[in-house]
Amino acid sequence: MELGLKGKRVIIPASTKGILRRVVDQLIDEGCDVAICSRSEDTVARTLRELSGGKGSAIGRACDVNDKSDYEAWLEEMVEQLGGVDIFIPGVSAGGGADSERNWWKSFEVDVLSTVRGCEVVIPHMRESGGGAITFITTTASVETFGGPQAYNAMKGSLLVYAKQLSQEVGRDGIRVNCVSPGPIYFEGGVWQMLKDTMAKWFAKVEKDHPSGRLGTPEEVSNCVLFLSSPAASWVSGTNLIVDGGFTKRVQF
Ligand SMILES: NC(=O)c1ccc[n+]([C@@H]2O[C@H](COP(=O)([O-])OP(=O)(O)OC[C@H]3O[C@@H](n4cnc5c(N)ncnc54)[C@H](OP(=O)(O)O)[C@@H]3O)[C@@H](O)[C@H]2O)c1
Repeated sequence: MELGLKGKRVIIPASTKGILRRVVDQLIDEGCDVAICSRSEDTVARTLRELSGGKGSAIGRACDVNDKSDYEAWLEEMVEQLGGVDIFIPGVSAGGGADSERNWWKSFEVDVLSTVRGCEVVIPHMRESGGGAITFITTTASVETFGGPQAYNAMKGSLLVYAKQLSQEVGRDGIRVNCVSPGPIYFEGGVWQMLKDTMAKWFAKVEKDHPSGRLGTPEEVSNCVLFLSSPAASWVSGTNLIVDGGFTKRVQF
């Protein structure tokens, strides 16, 4: 199948590691021009070096998406340098954690508000160029009880609602909005490696609860993000694609 991604201009904040880094790698392989960031200047510089010489190109600089003015400036800079934007993939997270008031604020600001701000910047540019695709990275922890009551699950859940409503609003401008909700994904240096090292019993239970007895990989999520973000998914909008190897047990109607 031809995804039709060659030459697409893609903005992916918070993308030097894990799932989104894999998305960046795959988009470059498809011949896209991709803008990346993370909070660390060194990591962004190293990532850009690693990405150079591929079929597509990569640009970027350090930016904390939680800093409203710098994040909005970064987005505008990236749009200008790319000459527009066709695809936006916001997937930053403050992560899970204790059910404290501080975590609720942090999750709201990082996970929700930065996504809303990002959409508000990129949508006018997409309208100008006749359309685009926006793919949020959400989580199965929003669609089934998981890990106890906490801001992460609820705030990511609010993005599912926002994405659906946004898809209705911008559909007539040729812009599709979808979510990809991964289950637990294992990679070196990721949260599940940390949980394996510090909460081995719980990690083993989560692993066993997967029908295939293992966690997913960044690549298995990235494959789905690329499809949903590509012109090949032209008739898919307002959906939430669960990518969890059957980990969640609900029936999806
Ligand atoms: N891993 C999983 O099992 C899993 C499961 C379901 C959903 N998800 C979701 O998938 C997304 C990616 O998670 P991941 O586990 O693959 O990666 P991750 O370990 O959360 O790292 C993601 C990237 O985000 C950057 N980052 C974090 N905070 C930032 C900020 N404020 N501003 C700019 N960059 C920032 C990090 O770089 P710096 O630290 O250098 O800034 C890193 O490059 C998240 O939304 C997560 O909730 C993950």
